[in-house]
Amino acid sequence: MKKIGILTSGGDAPGMNAAIRAVVRTAVNYEYKVIGIMKGYNGLISGDITELGARSVSDIIHKGGTILHTGRSEAMMTAEGQAKAAQIVKILALDALVVIGGNGSLAGALDLAKLGVNIIGIPGTIDLDLGCSEYTIGFDTAVNTAMDAIDKIRDTSSSHERCSVVEVMGRMAGYLALWSGLTCGAEVVLVPETGDDDNNADRIIEQIIENRALGKTNNLVVVAEGVGGSDALAKEIERVTGIESRATILGHLQRGGSPTAVDRMHAAYMGYQAVQCILDNIYNRVIIFKDGRHESMDIGEAVNFKRPYDGAMHNMIKILAR
Ligand code: F6P
Repeated sequence: MKKIGILTSGGDAPGMNAAIRAVVRTAVNYEYKVIGIMKGYNGLISGDITELGARSVSDIIHKGGTILHTGRSEAMMTAEGQAKAAQIVKILALDALVVIGGNGSLAGALDLAKLGVNIIGIPGTIDLDLGCSEYTIGFDTAVNTAMDAIDKIRDTSSSHERCSVVEVMGRMAGYLALWSGLTCGAEVVLVPETGDDDNNADRIIEQIIENRALGKTNNLVVVAEGVGGSDALAKEIERVTGIESRATILGHLQRGGSPTAVDRMHAAYMGYQAVQCILDNIYNRVIIFKDGRHESMDIGEAVNFKRPYDGAMHNMIKILAR
C-alpha cells in the first residue's frame, strides 16, 4: 500500500479543491493512504498534517479556495527549509508528494525532487504563467470573474461616457489581462511582456483621442498588475483629454468563487493523472495540458519552460477595438 502526501501552495486558485478530490478519490481507488499537508510548504516543514479519505473530500468540488489552505513559504527558499521538508517526507514515509500550485510552488517541488522526494506537480494558478502547460487550474474561473466585473464597469462607464481603467491580476504575466481584455472588448490592454514603450501613457492617450474621433464615447483600458499604475494613468488620461476617468483594481476577488466547468474538468483529469503516474512509479513529473491532452513532463524541464507572449492575440484585440 502506497502512502502519498498532497499540498496546495502559493496563491489559491478555483479548482484546487476539485483537484484535491480527484487525487484523493483516485488514490483511495488503489487503496493508497493519503496525507493532506496543511498550509503549503510551511505545513510540511512544521508537520501540520491530516489524514484524508474519500469522505474528507465530499462536497468540495464546487468550492473556491483550498480545504488544505495554502501559503507562500519563505523557509522553502532556504536550503535548511528544503532539507527539513524533505526530512518530514521521509519521517511520514511518503512514497510521493503531490504539489498543486504555480511556478514558485513547482520550483520548490523541484528542490525537493533533488533531495530525493518523489514529486508529482499539478499546475494551479490563475496567472496561466507556466509555459509547460497550455492550462493552469483556476485561470478560466478568474477570467470569467474579471469579465463579469468589467462588464459591470462598462455599464456605468458608457452611461457616464467615461474612460475606465481596470487592473487585473497576473503577477508578471499578461494572460489574464489579454483574455479579459479580449472578452470584454477593451480598447487598450497593457501587459508587462511588451515593455515600457507600448505601455507609455502618451501612446494610450493618443489612442483614446483617436477613438473619440472615431465616435467612441467611452473607453476601457485593461491593465495587467505587472504594468500597474492604473490610478495614475486614469488621472493622466483625464488631465490631458478632459474625459472623466476612473480606475478600478479588481484584486483578490479574481481568486475566489466556484470553479467553472473548465476548471473542474482540468482538475479532475490532472488529479487523476497524477495518481496514475504514482501507480506506474513515474515520478518528478508535472501534469500538463498540451494539444488537447493531459500528459506529464519532467519537472526540471517544466519549471524552466517560458510561455511566449501572445503578440497575435494582442494585435487582434487592437483590431477588434477600432
Ligand atoms: O499568483 C496568483 C496571484 O493572485 C497573482 O496574480 C498576484 O500577483 C499574487 O498572487 C498576489 O499574491 P498575494 O495574495 O500573496 O498578495
